[in-house]
Amino acid sequence: MPVYWPDNAKTAFGTEILRADHPFDQSDLFTDDGLAHLLDHYPRHLLEIWSFGSDQAGKSPALKGRAPRLPGKDIVDAVKHGDVWLNLQRSNLELPDLKPIADEIYGSLEDTSGRRSRQRDMNLLISSPNVEVSYHIDVPMVALFQVRGHKRLWVYPRDRKFAPPEHVEQLIHMNRDSDLPYRDAFDEEARVFELKPGMGLTWPQLAPHRIRNANCLNVSLSCEFMTLESWVNTNAIYTNAFLRQNLKISPPALNGIGPVSLSKAAFASLHKALQSQDRERASTPITFELDASVENCVKPLWA
Ligand SMILES: [Fe+2]
Repeated sequence: MPVYWPDNAKTAFGTEILRADHPFDQSDLFTDDGLAHLLDHYPRHLLEIWSFGSDQAGKSPALKGRAPRLPGKDIVDAVKHGDVWLNLQRSNLELPDLKPIADEIYGSLEDTSGRRSRQRDMNLLISSPNVEVSYHIDVPMVALFQVRGHKRLWVYPRDRKFAPPEHVEQLIHMNRDSDLPYRDAFDEEARVFELKPGMGLTWPQLAPHRIRNANCLNVSLSCEFMTLESWVNTNAIYTNAFLRQNLKISPPALNGIGPVSLSKAAFASLHKALQSQDRERASTPITFELDASVENCVKPLWA
């Protein structure tokens, strides 16, 4: 089941948005029955269930839920009729059925880019009609493969106007959520993609983006990974945050491997090792249970 990337992928990888064609939308693994099977075999305590509320501007805080006893079939039904977003993180490791697909995707990325992909984390995303994921950045590289349904993706330039260095540094220090301040005017400079089954995209690391589902169930594979360049870049920015906070200087953002960025990355590795006990991000409390009998299938636990 091959994945096709464009011919210029080797030189454009990491700096431009690249589109792939893939066949995974044809797999029985992602039919309603297939998804129910995957949900039944996925460790339920790892299943992330989020509701982003009715504020489609993305200003209301995301709520975290649970579904400890629902069969996979009922979870699929709840996503179809509710207002939720499911993430089966590490599905490449937790679901043996998906490992061949993950290997194919990451293998294609390595072949096409000429770079090793480390820290592979394939997230199986199953989300309700019309759900929006607000303006944010992800720390790792991401390749997003659309499997079922349609969604619109906005990708914004990777510069300080769209993602202030202080915000990026704070995110990398895990002191804040990945959401960024958003303005409607940003859309004038966004690249907009209509994702449909069989289509994949990857974009430069730390490029801001947001997503809106069409009025249908969406199934996607969000494949996170690190290359050597993205690892050095991430750790150099980590050190930039340290310099900004402790020495009150504003270091320039870096992009690429060089003596300065490598030195900063080495410092970051040492600093993280010494700070390891303080770097746990406070987790969002679970405040609802997935329940098909209530509106949006989101039943508050303490109402
Ligand atoms: Fe993202």
